[in-house]
Amino acid sequence: MATGWQPDNVGENEISDGEAYHRALYIDGDIERPADWHRDSAERLVQLAIPQIKNGSLVVDYGSGTGGSAIELLKEVEYRGIEIDLVLIDPLVSWFSKARDLLNSRPNVHFELSIEEDDSGKSSFRRLDSILGGRKADIIISSSTIHLIPERAIRDLASQFADSLQEGGVFIWNSGDLESEFRPANSALLHDPYRAIREILRDDEIRVTRLSEMNSEEVLQHEGRLDRIFPGPYSMDVILDALGAVGFSSETHHEVIGFSNEDAERFALVPRLSEIAAPLLIGGERDEAIRRALKIALEEIAERGMGSNSEYRSHWVYGVHRLA
Ligand SMILES: C[S@@+](CC[C@H](N)C(=O)[O-])C[C@H]1O[C@@H](n2cnc3c(N)ncnc32)[C@H](O)[C@@H]1O
Repeated sequence: MATGWQPDNVGENEISDGEAYHRALYIDGDIERPADWHRDSAERLVQLAIPQIKNGSLVVDYGSGTGGSAIELLKEVEYRGIEIDLVLIDPLVSWFSKARDLLNSRPNVHFELSIEEDDSGKSSFRRLDSILGGRKADIIISSSTIHLIPERAIRDLASQFADSLQEGGVFIWNSGDLESEFRPANSALLHDPYRAIREILRDDEIRVTRLSEMNSEEVLQHEGRLDRIFPGPYSMDVILDALGAVGFSSETHHEVIGFSNEDAERFALVPRLSEIAAPLLIGGERDEAIRRALKIALEEIAERGMGSNSEYRSHWVYGVHRLA
């Protein structure tokens, strides 16, 4: 039985949000059938992690979401008969509840919600050393998460990772949404189509009418929140520099991974992500607008030579960092 954080009073909307993201990673929610992009990106991460893992290793999955990376890691670890302690960490109740649901029956799997509220209701991220209660990890993995961490927070996160790893410990991550010198001209970033949807719908007539019914302060807050769902990409050098500054050595890898149009639609329609089209109404109005805009976005990406009529090519970078 898994231990740690348990979802409490999770509403219907949150359950369907978690379910939808899980289904964006796994066809029909079947963990034996990962979507090609998820299988390929996680496979490389797991291959890089496995040589660092042995019986009894304490492994942290930073930004576990619905469990997609943990599930792929556990498949390989179990196939090899290795026993690990796995700590999953995430701030998003809706997605993390799904991870808990999927991995509930596993022994040696522990859940930690990484966000907390103070007495005034202000939320903040918990520090990794307090989450781990002073234990030091042998390996921290982070799959498809680091690009969501604001650039200004990366230095502090790097030092938290350094403080929470054993001597010789390793941090391994991947991301499809960081700029790098390696990106071939015929590939896009993972979130390019979804940023394009946001731009296409920015001036959508119904959206503009709804926004005009809000006061200017509300509009500013609303639009700022939507812009943060798929933030603009920054360079992977930000991450390499921050990790280097706290004593990590760095090895990098990269690859291009096809993202099919069907997978892109499933991804864009995950409720939490489809909020980029708010205040279009949840349901048909929002979903149809997203489908229309996604079609245009994918056609443009294909015209720019970064995809075909059936997929776009996403460029993924991987980092392996050891504490000297
Ligand atoms: C795309 S999901 C990846 C989930 C999982 N690792 C996988 O590979 O399927 C990214 C996760 O990062 C979390 N996240 C977003 N912003 C974050 C932040 N600033 N710090 C830590 N985690 C964050 C989200 O809640 C989300 O679950």
